[in-house]
Amino acid sequence: MSGQSLTDFDTLRQGANLAIASADLDKKTAITRSAAQRWFSRTLSLRSPMDGGVSERPGRPDRPELLPPRLVKKRNLNTQAGRIALLHAIAHIELNAIDLALDIVARFASESVPLSFFDGWMQVAFEEAKHFNLIRDRLVELGADYGDLPAHDGLWQAAHDTRNDLTARLAVVPLILEARGLDVTPSLQARMVETGDTKSAAILQIIYDDEKKHVAIGAKWFRFLCHRQRKNPEETFRQLVRANFRGQLKAPFNDIARAEAGLTPSFYRSLSSVNAS
Ligand SMILES: [Fe+2]
Ligand SMILES: [Fe+2]
Repeated sequence: MSGQSLTDFDTLRQGANLAIASADLDKKTAITRSAAQRWFSRTLSLRSPMDGGVSERPGRPDRPELLPPRLVKKRNLNTQAGRIALLHAIAHIELNAIDLALDIVARFASESVPLSFFDGWMQVAFEEAKHFNLIRDRLVELGADYGDLPAHDGLWQAAHDTRNDLTARLAVVPLILEARGLDVTPSLQARMVETGDTKSAAILQIIYDDEKKHVAIGAKWFRFLCHRQRKNPEETFRQLVRANFRGQLKAPFNDIARAEAGLTPSFYRSLSSVNAS
């Protein structure tokens, strides 16, 4: 990516591709912001035949080392090292979330959907870049940085499996992976407050509020695509999850936050390994 200017793109799809490919994370977030701002000010067209292909893997720095999810250690939030490990894991999730939102834009730029579809995903990409930078700055304040610890490599794979089907992509990325964030964030935030780390807790609050919007954007467009195909959204969701998602949905669910985002229990209840806990 060396020598590439932050505004060196003529379409939204080119900008998204450039950000995805960038292994320099300051550049990745800056290009994402610039593409979102130019798109929202309506000074960027969506696509052109000159755009080039979409990266099969996002650009990543040499560190962190990527390990299978089962080899990433659990952390104890009562110690600073444990809180750093948790923030590091969240930074890694946010980084993947930037690329996942941009991949929806770039990969599905030719899909026949209203332009507001791309508004939604550029808002998500913009906010994921904000989340990544907030967490990374907090890690630096705590004497650490993103890249110091190993991270797991499951998120991109989950998305890559749905690269040929936008409806399946929306089922897996916003409606499973991001909705999971709504389930786990409030208790992590409460524990950060208990340990006295109110700065980290405040960042988790920002992320939580934004993630509700991301699930809502996912649910809105998932329903749109289902209705257009004359399919029942709940039933289609369950079929797509069974076909495209290898993990299990884990209770307890944050039913209220999920419902506020338009993801009612009829979507996911019967898919969970434990219905009550
Ligand atoms: Fe996020
Ligand atoms: Fe998100």
